[in-house]
Amino acid sequence: MAERWTPDSWRKKPILQVPEYPDLQALADTEKQLATFPPLVFAGEARNLKKALGRVAQGEAFLLQGGDCAESFAEHGANNIRDFFRAFLQMAIVLTYAGASPVVKVGRVAGQFAKPRSSGIEKKDGIELPSYRGDIINDIAFTEEARRPDPRRQVEAYRQSAATLNLLRAFAKGGYASVENVHQWMLQSVSDSPQSKAYSDLADRVSGALDFMRACGLTFAVDSALGTTDFYTSHEALLLGYEQAFTRVDSTTGDWYATSGHMIWIGDRTRQHDHAHIEWARGIKNPLGLKCGPSLKADDLLRLVDTLNPDNEPGRLTLIGRFGADKVGDHLPALVRALKREGRIVLWSCDPMHGNTITSASGYKTRPFDLILKEVRAFFDVHAAEGTYAGGVHLEMTGQNVTECTGGARAISDSDLNDRYHTVCDPRLNAEQAIDMAFLLADLLKKERGAKPIRQVSGL
Ligand code: PEP
Ligand code: CO
Repeated sequence: MAERWTPDSWRKKPILQVPEYPDLQALADTEKQLATFPPLVFAGEARNLKKALGRVAQGEAFLLQGGDCAESFAEHGANNIRDFFRAFLQMAIVLTYAGASPVVKVGRVAGQFAKPRSSGIEKKDGIELPSYRGDIINDIAFTEEARRPDPRRQVEAYRQSAATLNLLRAFAKGGYASVENVHQWMLQSVSDSPQSKAYSDLADRVSGALDFMRACGLTFAVDSALGTTDFYTSHEALLLGYEQAFTRVDSTTGDWYATSGHMIWIGDRTRQHDHAHIEWARGIKNPLGLKCGPSLKADDLLRLVDTLNPDNEPGRLTLIGRFGADKVGDHLPALVRALKREGRIVLWSCDPMHGNTITSASGYKTRPFDLILKEVRAFFDVHAAEGTYAGGVHLEMTGQNVTECTGGARAISDSDLNDRYHTVCDPRLNAEQAIDMAFLLADLLKKERGAKPIRQVSGL
């Protein structure tokens, strides 16, 4: 029998990755204040996303999830949000066409602030300070004062999330995200890309499909589905005091929901079965993600799946593998088989970022585009071999023209990293690399969904 769950029952469990707040009273006061603030998202929206993800789990749609590794206070602005949204929707239109099925769009955005760290301490020039844990906790500057956890940052993160979400909702529903606009942005990106020849075939086919629809009289003016899109938010539920403050009862169903974002995931470092993060997550009804790294064994996974999705509800649980290009083939098949054997319905997604981080010769944390692509391909191969669906991808990306990951169509080199390395945490695909990735994914998806390849992939 599971013990009784309450929004604060996690507080009695062991917990990892907790910041050391110097003033616990100030922390408690902030959490109390947050609990009075309006929710960011509504239970009905989380339920709609769960239904959409249920279709993905059954092979009827594809999940595209992506955004910053960590949102930052300093980079908060309309242009950043707009450029991310534009790149993301271009990826989605390519994948929708290639898979001939809906793409469920989930941003790592409007709440993705708290970061788990491999070490609690950072050392520089003989000085030791607490690690940076994301703008919701402390500041990235390397001074004692900046690194001191400050609860007031939680209020700022909430306000930033609300403003970001407000703009995203306006973009998604106000006409900006119409199929016609997204199509035009995509054509522009294709013509600017060094790979434009390789991508033009698919781009032309999308244009042809839209011409046909227009000729049939299906336009934005007639069908609002062509003028709007459904876009959802997600983040890692790491800072549980903040999450608890936004854990609210849904008045329609009487169930508890996280109202800090539509989808919530548990990271690879905090997924211990008997620990606080799993305890909190099991009691909320949102769609959940669970990061699965190389240390996760099939037995542990089955136990976690039992706890997080006891009713085997499609769409409730997305397993996000992040093994590394050279490890995914060794680790993923056993996990897929175990769940298949037990009849567990899950959505398998691939995070090809976190297992492929290296330090460049110039000292930057980076990720080679080819390794990222290799993990995605291996993920599709495993699912093809096991008879399961490669359901989605989970990417760290930005709409800006940064130089953080090497490779891609423009062959960013180690020595280019210094030009525009802006991330506050992990290296992201820039807009062009992200759209490249979508075109390469399109071929994999088309193959998986049983249709003929659009073109021969030459690789990058
Ligand atoms: C992340 O998604 O930014 C992250 C820290 O991932 P993981 O838990 O897989 O390491
Ligand atoms: Co990251």
